[in-house]
Amino acid sequence: MILVTGGAGFIGGNFVLDWLKNPASEGVINLDKLTYAGNLATLDSLKDDPRHIFVHGDIGDKELVTRLLKEHQPRAIVNFAAESHVDRSIHGPAEFVTTNIVGTFNLLECAREYWNGLDAAGKERFRFHHVSTDEVYGSLSLTDPAFTEKNSYEPNSPYSASKAASDHLVRAWFHTYGFPVVTTNCSNNYGPYHFPEKLIPLVILNALNSKPLPIYGDGQQIRDWLYVGDHCSAIREVLAKGKLGETYNIGGWNEKANIDVVKTICRILDELKPRADGKSYVEQITFVKDRPGHDRRYAIDASKVERELGWRPAETFDTGIRKTVQWYLDNPVWIDGVVSGSYRDWLQKQYN
Ligand code: NAD
Ligand code: DAU
Repeated sequence: MILVTGGAGFIGGNFVLDWLKNPASEGVINLDKLTYAGNLATLDSLKDDPRHIFVHGDIGDKELVTRLLKEHQPRAIVNFAAESHVDRSIHGPAEFVTTNIVGTFNLLECAREYWNGLDAAGKERFRFHHVSTDEVYGSLSLTDPAFTEKNSYEPNSPYSASKAASDHLVRAWFHTYGFPVVTTNCSNNYGPYHFPEKLIPLVILNALNSKPLPIYGDGQQIRDWLYVGDHCSAIREVLAKGKLGETYNIGGWNEKANIDVVKTICRILDELKPRADGKSYVEQITFVKDRPGHDRRYAIDASKVERELGWRPAETFDTGIRKTVQWYLDNPVWIDGVVSGSYRDWLQKQYN
């Protein structure tokens, strides 16, 4: 077995689905608190798969995590569980400290105790894979080189500060206790099952619902977009072959300004689902108040993972974004399930 945390969220859910697509894969214990971002409908296709064991719970629950480890004896933990939305971290940072820092600490401690009790072969085989973000490196100017694993940590939002803190804990557990960890720092993901508070799914759904497409500030902020399926394949690679104690940057080699991302989505929708009035969805673009402390540019230099482990993304932005838009057009039931009252409350709070 492997233990996946946060496996009902966007990336964790995609990872579990991808992992279990291979009939030869080990089973997954999926521990998820089912916050607003966790969605069991994502895992519907696994209902009859005995290799998937879903456990509703918190990574910060020591008793529960200790029991799961003892019962299922996983050979690896992949830690996706987190509060992940920068704007929410600005409105309310407390949950980010609780889950991302204290929760990760608890998971590390329970896992270390479990690992200490394994025999030599079990110890040798065990991995704790921590999934982190490029945001820990801070913000780049237009001319700065992309982030490498050697960049210093300069987090700017409560979210990125909490992820940076968790990365430091993971690093320290390796250096101090010899606990077998690997960390991946990934750029912006997009793809199926993405909760529509984040830019790409929000824009797709707002466009289809004749709502404004909100662009923060001047829309010239740059992100490096990675198709979620490529992120999943990178994690599998690092889990299998990554060197203990190392960090690996994962990115899509796809730097785009936000305004260009939104215009691309509009053009794809113009083609796949034209507006009834014949106008372009571009007409719905609306510039709104900027995010406080908004990082200007992220860019990942993913050459280390390519050089050492042979991983490169398979999707370009053009192929990935088209698949993504099509997925949202094809999956109205999943969408209906996530746009609940609490989602509407969030939109009201954030976009007034
Ligand atoms: P998400 O918000 O979609 O999902 C997070 C999941 O974690 C949810 O299912 C939620 O219920 C669960 N969760 C939250 N608190 C928990 C707790 N205390 N115990 C157990 N489960 C809990 O996030 P995501 O976008 O899928 O991101 C997954 C991981 O990848 C996060 O660690 C995030 O920091 C990192 N990451 C995300 C991106 C991105 O672009 N989305 C990029 C780089 C790194
Ligand atoms: O870089 C990796 C990070 O990417 C992950 O660690 C985070 O978990 C993930 O949420 C994401 O963070 P961002 O803040 O970059 O993603 P988001 O989709 O929220 O925003 C992308 C860009 O679009 C960012 O520059 C802010 C802007 N934006 C976002 C929203 C929601 C808008 O202009 N308008 C919006 O309504």
